[in-house]
Amino acid sequence: MKLGVNIDHIAVLREARKIADPNPMDALGIVKRAGAEQITIHLREDRRHIQDADAINIIKHSPLPINLECAMANEIIDIVCDLKPHRVTLVPEKREEVTTEGGLNILGEQPLLNATIQRLQDNEIEVSLFIDPTLENIQTSKELGVEWIEFHTGKYANVYAMLYGNLANTHHTIPELDLSRKVLTIILEEELTNLRVLSGDAMELGLKVAAGHGLNYQNVEAINEIETIEELNIGQSIIARSVWVGLEQAILDMKALLIR
Ligand code: PXP
Repeated sequence: MKLGVNIDHIAVLREARKIADPNPMDALGIVKRAGAEQITIHLREDRRHIQDADAINIIKHSPLPINLECAMANEIIDIVCDLKPHRVTLVPEKREEVTTEGGLNILGEQPLLNATIQRLQDNEIEVSLFIDPTLENIQTSKELGVEWIEFHTGKYANVYAMLYGNLANTHHTIPELDLSRKVLTIILEEELTNLRVLSGDAMELGLKVAAGHGLNYQNVEAINEIETIEELNIGQSIIARSVWVGLEQAILDMKALLIR
């Protein structure tokens, strides 16, 4: 399994003080040394973490391919076409959100998607679409002519957290909680099956499949077992762990879970 490390949160820490430290540029060599295959950054319209200068420097100096996530806003696509990262992952963006909450509205925004994908591909940039895992979304992605799709794993991660979060450490005897745990277990299994079946379908259509959002050191194992998923993009959990063990060790720990 290939690992893309999302380094946005290094810039989140810097922007909290609006100073120069920590600089996400300093992560590039560490991410490579730790054995990850890709660096992922999100150039948001509100520039809440990665700034234009970061994107320019990271793309220029990175020893690993850059996967740049962005919305289909003209201003951003203009910048991205100049910067020419290895890959662009198109994502939906809302100003008020804390993080990307769902996949693209791929069925409702086909004309804009078509034009944006064309522009990016004309600039020799590989394109990925961040989508909720449904067959319709996969088929439409194929029709749109992209090379990659990335499944939004937020639902899987949320259900996993509800099931194995706080309750996992309590030996409760409340029947209602047992019942809800049974329901959550079924939903989790369904979500995993959905991801497994659909990533197989996508691969058969000739799409490359990535996944990401909310993946961490606990819930990544079951996703790693889905052989048709080639790559995971992970940010929050790796950067959070790096506070305690350092970035290199945090990535090494994740890579150890991604052995197949
Ligand atoms: N993939 C995409 C397309 C994303 O938008 C994000 C969040 O920026 C991630 C992966 C990483 O999510 P997380 O930070 O929850 O690991």
